Amino acid sequence: MKLNVGILGATGAVGQKFVRLLEDHPWFTVTAVAASERSAGKRYRDAAHWIEPTPMPEGVADLEVQLCEPGLDCDLVFSGLDSSVAGTVEKAFASAGYPVISNAKNHRMDDDVPLLIPEVNPDHVDLIHRQTYSDSGFIVTNPNCATVGLTMALKPMQDAFGIEAVHVTTMQALSGAGYPGVASLDAVANVVPYIGGEEDKLETEPLRILATRTGEGPHSSVTSLSIPISAQCNRVPVIDGHMECVSVKLVGSPSLVAIEKAIRGFSSPDEISVLPSSPASCLEVDHSDSAPQPRRDVHRGDGMTVSVGRVRSCPVFDARFVVLSHNTIRGAAGGAILNAELLAARGLLPRRLA
Ligand SMILES: NC(=O)c1ccc[n+]([C@@H]2O[C@H](COP(=O)([O-])OP(=O)(O)OC[C@H]3O[C@@H](n4cnc5c(N)ncnc54)[C@H](OP(=O)(O)O)[C@@H]3O)[C@@H](O)[C@H]2O)c1
Repeated sequence: MKLNVGILGATGAVGQKFVRLLEDHPWFTVTAVAASERSAGKRYRDAAHWIEPTPMPEGVADLEVQLCEPGLDCDLVFSGLDSSVAGTVEKAFASAGYPVISNAKNHRMDDDVPLLIPEVNPDHVDLIHRQTYSDSGFIVTNPNCATVGLTMALKPMQDAFGIEAVHVTTMQALSGAGYPGVASLDAVANVVPYIGGEEDKLETEPLRILATRTGEGPHSSVTSLSIPISAQCNRVPVIDGHMECVSVKLVGSPSLVAIEKAIRGFSSPDEISVLPSSPASCLEVDHSDSAPQPRRDVHRGDGMTVSVGRVRSCPVFDARFVVLSHNTIRGAAGGAILNAELLAARGLLPRRLA
């Protein structure tokens, strides 16, 4: 029997991606949608300015949008809420007994909240046993949309050699700013060399995700690594797909062959690869001179595969490469759904309602 799910912030760019990706999901059915007072009380079809490339799922179109308050008819909630409200709303749902699977930044760095990429740090799930919101409620987060690609590419290098320093310059898609997002006069034929708060997230979140968990259950903890990451973030006129040009300094200055072998050898743990949203290959290396590119490669693995290309030596650090990931799928709704699938597979998402 499927679990009933609610979507907080269901009318936004990420919320709509949840609605689309959860259509026909084998384990989850959308039974509740919630957003701001602007949308509450309307049918979803009237409240959401639908921007997905496929028709709005009929099962959700007629749901009434509710306020983001506990009492929603569901077993767990996904949150695609604006960060101005996500912090308090997500706490309220966890305190009322709902598992909250969030995309928002507010609780990502809380000591007792997993900041999760299932292929990278599935053991961090244990942190939920430290949370004291209620008997059954907890919060799990996924990282910033640019953090996901960078961290997945760094993971095999950290495991094989150890990382000493990272420099990353991003070219981030417009959909990362939500809807309506960046004004057209700023976006078209232009590059904006500033995305508020983004560089700080990119310099801190990978260090928490790559850290080793110590202790078990209520005694589990994660202490962020202390590796310098220098990030420069740019908004570019691409619809979907964050590109990142990365240089890394690695312990022992390994050869390019060894670095590429480490990336190629990375695969999902067995526990993750069997989950419904897990792509056949979570990290792919492309050898062509001009790959990856957002328009050609962002939909690999239905948007869940992270692509790496142009692996080559770096005259300043040891190696440099390009990473591409889908910001609203792998970097938001798809990543959150994979998190929920992992929790469900571990028996951590019991049915709340009779
Ligand atoms: N876009 C991405 O690539 C991406 C990736 C990773 C994480 N995120 C994060 O995901 C979250 C959503 O991003 P987005 O791009 O989907 O933004 P968005 O398109 O602006 O959507 C924001 C959603 O939050 C709701 N909301 C706003 N104020 C509210 C309030 N006071 N009370 C209740 N609901 C409220 C909106 O409802 P109304 O329609 O009723 O106003 C809407 O459903 C953000 O925290 C963002 O940082 C985004």
